[in-house]
Amino acid sequence: MEVNELVEEIAKSKKYANLSRDIIERVCAESAVKYKKKKAALSEVKKEFHIVYESFLTPNCQNIAKEKIMGYEGEDILADRKFCLELLPLHISTKERVGVEKEIYSFISQCIVPDGILSDVGCGFNPLALPFMEKRPGRYFAYEISRDTVDVLNVYFRKARMDGYTASILDAVQGVPSGYSDLLLALKLLPLLQQQKKGRAMEFLSEASFGTAVVSFPTKSMAGRNKGMEAYYTAFLEDNLPENILIADRRVIYNELFYVLKK
Ligand SMILES: C[S@@+](CC[C@H](N)C(=O)[O-])C[C@H]1O[C@@H](n2cnc3c(N)ncnc32)[C@H](O)[C@@H]1O
Repeated sequence: MEVNELVEEIAKSKKYANLSRDIIERVCAESAVKYKKKKAALSEVKKEFHIVYESFLTPNCQNIAKEKIMGYEGEDILADRKFCLELLPLHISTKERVGVEKEIYSFISQCIVPDGILSDVGCGFNPLALPFMEKRPGRYFAYEISRDTVDVLNVYFRKARMDGYTASILDAVQGVPSGYSDLLLALKLLPLLQQQKKGRAMEFLSEASFGTAVVSFPTKSMAGRNKGMEAYYTAFLEDNLPENILIADRRVIYNELFYVLKK
């Protein structure tokens, strides 16, 4: 199976053409090794992209968010919690925090270094929760695999007139933020990295340069079932954490298990 053929098929697909070329090439190459027939290989690639990316999107969410942000006429988008609550439900991961957003972002805010560097990897719409964060980092680097999501976030940062805040493409299976982060956020990301490459979650934490990291895990499936996920992810993190990373705090808030880590 020719990898290029698969890559071109995905590059033409409506749902996944906006994903970064890096991740398309990686997933197609992996599938081409496993499947000889193009149909089966293509179906595997699409299944993977559905699990790690599309399943978290509500219909047309990137366009809806972009239009709302561009049409915003209030005074200060970064202070506008009511408007923020219109944006957060557009992405499933932030939607799951609505109702407990104050508690969750207050917990995360304790780790924000004012004027420091915050890197938010596999960020989804999380940077749009800035109005609930109680401190402002000096620089906010948001990373995603989707150009459409990156575009929404950059429109938001420009509207907020935050010069040091930018969104860009990063496949966290293949890389980590390039510099040091005072705070690294990897919220509900590590299980997806494991899904894409066994061992990648801990490898990612080892490779990334940070002072503090907040990582989180879902404790209920997207269908709302509690399948022993808290115990599973507790053991997963605590048994596999690299030696140079220490656990500073652990908290369950509603359906999310958080760890504060120090390097
Ligand atoms: C469960 S969502 C979490 C979003 C956000 N961190 C939050 O908690 O609100 C996972 C996000 O990771 C992104 N993602 C999946 N695989 C990735 C990868 N290899 N590199 C970077 N981001 C990835 C997806 O596009 C999705 O937006």
